[in-house]
Amino acid sequence: MLKLSKLVTAVACVAASAAASAGQVEVLHYWTSGGEAKSVAELKKILEAKGHVWKDFAVAGGGGDNAATVLKSRVVSGNPPAAAQIKGPAIHEWAAEGVLANLDSVGKAEKWDSLLPKVVADVMKYKGAYVAVPVNVHRVNWLWGSAAVLKKAGVAGMPKSWDEFFAAADKVKKAGLIPVAHSGQNIWDFTTFESVVLGVGGAKFYEDALVKLDPKALTGDSMRKSLETFRRIKSYIDPAAPGRDWNLSTAMVIQDKAAFQFMGDWAKGEFVAAGKTPGKDFLCAPAPGSANAYTFNVDSFAMFKLKDASAQKAQNDLAAAIMGVEFQQVFNLNKGSIPVRLNMAMDKFDDCAKLSSKDFVATAKTGGLVPSVAHGMAIKPAAEGAIKDAVSQFWNDDKISVADGMKNIAKAAATK
Ligand code: GAL
Repeated sequence: MLKLSKLVTAVACVAASAAASAGQVEVLHYWTSGGEAKSVAELKKILEAKGHVWKDFAVAGGGGDNAATVLKSRVVSGNPPAAAQIKGPAIHEWAAEGVLANLDSVGKAEKWDSLLPKVVADVMKYKGAYVAVPVNVHRVNWLWGSAAVLKKAGVAGMPKSWDEFFAAADKVKKAGLIPVAHSGQNIWDFTTFESVVLGVGGAKFYEDALVKLDPKALTGDSMRKSLETFRRIKSYIDPAAPGRDWNLSTAMVIQDKAAFQFMGDWAKGEFVAAGKTPGKDFLCAPAPGSANAYTFNVDSFAMFKLKDASAQKAQNDLAAAIMGVEFQQVFNLNKGSIPVRLNMAMDKFDDCAKLSSKDFVATAKTGGLVPSVAHGMAIKPAAEGAIKDAVSQFWNDDKISVADGMKNIAKAAATK
């Protein structure tokens, strides 16, 4: 019979080896609102279930500008986190610095190429190798509505065009309620603006103007109409909009204090966290005029090169878990997004998510699927930041004419 001492030694060895392979993963992210925090808690749970230690490094600030600043300082000081929320062209900029870990062994072992739309897989690779892992697909061109406020104002349903939108907003205003809950921060001015461009000019115009940064498109008639429409929205917001965080505007719709919010479907994560039901308490619809288009925003994590073998193991386990079926379902149910992994069952998702999933596939075929510029999926961060500022200046300063607004945005788009 195995002597007790040998048994104890054997158990100790197993525990030691598990501890040796157990690594710590410090994760930099900016998911701090109600729905976001619940979502990231699911990732933490899955990593800890694999025996690793999750060190949370949350930097508040919707849209991630603050987190990006903190990340730069950490990397420059030679102390990068194990993983960071990095997406779109910024992934390639970080990869070119030679600081990102190669995830290709995980990508190949987990067959990511067969599980991802090519448009997404290409963004996650640098020189043909995976250096980031995608988490979800958010749709940005949404309009959220409070069913109670619309009923009170006598608005029959969600507006499909900009004429219908302004007619509805007028009814809400007449009823003494707040038509649009807007967050007056430059990323949310830009988020609203890109949905206006998509709805007024269509996907091809959006691509030409905001992705290809074509000067003709940026100064043409569709851009003039977009800026006129964009400015018109301003007369329907409340005086406390400047500086308000995105989720506090979502809360205004959740609490039936405002009729509408232009926001990506991370806002749905707030409705879900507040126990609200889509189609009953709140309504979702593509932003006016953009039902046949889809601005995608894929969140992703990149891993930074670390020396410690157990940390590398933890990084690879984290990457594999993120693309796993279990995480893809539970995370996206909380986050308001849809799985990025193909062929996932959608039966547990609500009608807003099912519409998003249907439109994601449909617009990929029609050319209506476009990258969100406001959320870092389309152009280099320098140009994106410059355009974001020019759009906010136009939004905040009524003395800037539409003609000058166009000129300022076109100039910003030329930022190298
Ligand atoms: C986006 C991000 C989303 C959500 C939102 C608000 O840029 O991709 O996941 O977090 O900002 O912070």
